[in-house]
Formats: sequence, C-alpha cells, structure tokens
Amino acid sequence: METRTLRCILTGLGNIGRSFLAMLPARAAYLRERYGLALRFVAVADSSGCIACEQGLDPIAIVACKRDKRGVVELAGGDIRITEMTAAAQRLPADLLLEATPTDIRAGQPGLDLIRAALQRGVHVVMASKGALVVAFDELARMSDWSGDRRAPRLRFSGAVAGALPSVNIGWRDLAGGEIRSIEAVLNGTTQVMLTLMSEGKDYAAALAEAQRIGIAEPDPTLDVEGWDAANKLLILSNAVLRQPTRLSDIAVEGITRVTPDDIQRARRNGGNLILLAKAERGADGRYDLSVRPTSVPADHPLARLGMQEAGIVYQSDIFGRTTAFSLEDGPTGTAAAMLRDILSIAPEIAA
Ligand SMILES: NC(=O)c1ccc[n+]([C@@H]2O[C@H](COP(=O)([O-])OP(=O)(O)OC[C@H]3O[C@@H](n4cnc5c(N)ncnc54)[C@H](OP(=O)(O)O)[C@@H]3O)[C@@H](O)[C@H]2O)c1
Repeated sequence: METRTLRCILTGLGNIGRSFLAMLPARAAYLRERYGLALRFVAVADSSGCIACEQGLDPIAIVACKRDKRGVVELAGGDIRITEMTAAAQRLPADLLLEATPTDIRAGQPGLDLIRAALQRGVHVVMASKGALVVAFDELARMSDWSGDRRAPRLRFSGAVAGALPSVNIGWRDLAGGEIRSIEAVLNGTTQVMLTLMSEGKDYAAALAEAQRIGIAEPDPTLDVEGWDAANKLLILSNAVLRQPTRLSDIAVEGITRVTPDDIQRARRNGGNLILLAKAERGADGRYDLSVRPTSVPADHPLARLGMQEAGIVYQSDIFGRTTAFSLEDGPTGTAAAMLRDILSIAPEIAA
C-alpha cells in the first residue's frame, strides 16, 4: 500500500499531547501497513513556545523533553526553529492541527484562534480540548464539514467528550437515520469517583481529598463538582449530535456539593445508584430538555452498574432502541487514543 504522510501541528504537550506522541512509535508499522498512513510533526507547542521543522520533529525526543519537565523550545537548533504557535497554524504547510491545550470555557483560548486559523485555510482539525467548542460551536461548524459542505475541512473532537468513550461517534455516526429520544450519560470522572467513595462511607470532604490524592480531582475541583464539566460535554453532544444550538445557559446544572452519604445509601438500597446524570430528553415540541444533576437511577438502568472510574452513555432512539457504551479509563491514554481514531476516520477523506 502506498503511504500517505500527514503533516501535523500539535499544540499542547501535557498529559494528552505527550500520551499521543508516546503511543505512535510502536504503531508506526501498523498505521503504515493497515492504513497507508504516516504522521509527520512539523510543529509542536507548549507554554514555552512553538518549534517547527518541515522535515519532521522526533516524537521520542519531544516526549523525553517533556518528561524531564523542560519547555519544548529547548529542542530548537539546527533544522528546528522557534516560531509562534498561531503563525504556525496560519501559515506552516500542514494537513492537520491536533489541539490539546488547556480547556478555557470563558474565551475558548488558546485553542479557538488556532482552530479558526487552521480551518480558514483548509487545514483539518482534531481536538481534545473543549473550550473552543463550548464558546463557538456554531462558528466552527460553519467553517468545517459540520456545515454539510463535504469539501470543507474536517473537524473532529471525539476525545473531548469523555475521552475513549465513543459518546459523539455513536450518536452522530452509528445512530444515523434514527431519531434520538434521549441521551443519559455519566461524563465526569471526578464526581463518579467521589460518589463511589461516598457510597463506601466517606463523607464529601473525605471523598474529595481522596480523589485529589489519587490524582483524579484537580486542586481546584469547582468545574467538576459543580457540574460544569459534565454540562460542557452535554453542550457539545447537544450541538453536534442532537443538532440543537445550545449554550451553557440552556442547561439546568446542579453539582454534587450537597449530596450526602445518606442520599447515596437511599439510592443503593434497592440495587440502584446515585450518579451525576447528564441528560437530554426530547419533549413534545421536538426540543431537547437539557440537565446535569445528581440522580438516583434504578437497578435496571445501565448506568447503575458503572464502576468507580467508568464513564457511560445511553442513547434511546426510535429505530435503534437502546444503545449503551461504557469505558474504563486509567489516565490520559484513552483521550490520546480518541485523537488517533479521529485522524484515522478522516485520513481517507483527506487523501481523496
Ligand atoms: N486529561 C484528560 O484525561 C483529558 C480528557 C479529555 C479531554 N482533555 C482535554 O485535553 C486538553 C489537554 O489536557 P491535558 O490533561 O493534556 O492538559 P495539561 O496536562 O494541562 O497540558 C496542557 C498542555 O498545554 C500547554 N499549554 C498551556 N498553555 C498554553 C498556551 N497558552 N500555549 C501553548 N501551550 C499551552 C502546556 O504547556 P506546558 O507543558 O509547558 O505546561 C501543556 O503542554 C485539555 O483541554 C483537556 O480539557 C483532557
């Protein structure tokens, strides 16, 4: 099979960007033989700056540099030059932008400007970050193939909504032709871990401390425990899968900060469970009612079975019935893998 090389710009070299690069060397032969595909990194960026090399940067050297907690600009020299990240997205010869900078749900930056710059000149985009989708889904959809224009650059973000869980792909691709009646999902890892710990007898503060100790909860857990992270993901599902233009203010959001161990015991008594449920339900007027709130689900509900570090989604549709997916993820690999699956899904279209 002939090998097509995609020239990639990767922005963000934290947990996700690093995991993504680290998984590639062992897969290079598989990607070449099975998909006729090779990835060349023509620019990468972290908070220290951006480096570029038309001949391609070495993923192993970048991972080693980040593992040593150094800024990537320290790799500059010889063929490798320092450039500016947005300038790279605007001008560097490239096929794909891979976006994995931090999620900022107020301004969507720095991802939003990078993605705009790439889409504007026909560079395809795969995102792990959510911020740009939360603040500007409409605009980015208009600039990409989500507009319905098959010649427009591709925009994919399957890893942005609960990492490896194929939450977007099931609804958007695999239930094509059906009318989705509802989505029910557990999309936030921190709250699922905390509620599980609370079901084992810990109070809220102890559960949060434990979730922070094992590295699941952020030092500032506000976005997770108050339900905003799950709401951001529901917003993306609503815009992308349900095609209902949605802003955060359209979602009723309640987090887990007032949940007590008693609430959980009550839910568990008959085999059910208390989860932070993100829900979209189609009303008689055809619009979806959107909410995130702690919810007691009965024993026969698929999400009652979710384990401590699992995410899950249940779609109900008219002709497909009930479709359920769970994923158990340990660390950032699942999200990095979702970026790879997005690339593989669009690679044949890019080649064409
Ligand atoms: N972690 C997960 O499991 C997960 C799951 C799904 C989605 N996501 C999303 O994926 C994205 C990346 O997550 P992560 O866990 O990898 O985050 P992270 O570990 O904090 O890494 C962020 C990366 O972005 C770089 N960065 C920060 N500000 C920058 C700027 N202004 N310009 C250029 N680079 C900048 C950082 O540079 P330094 O290396 O110099 O600090 C770092 O390399 C986030 O948007 C997150 O919401 C994460």
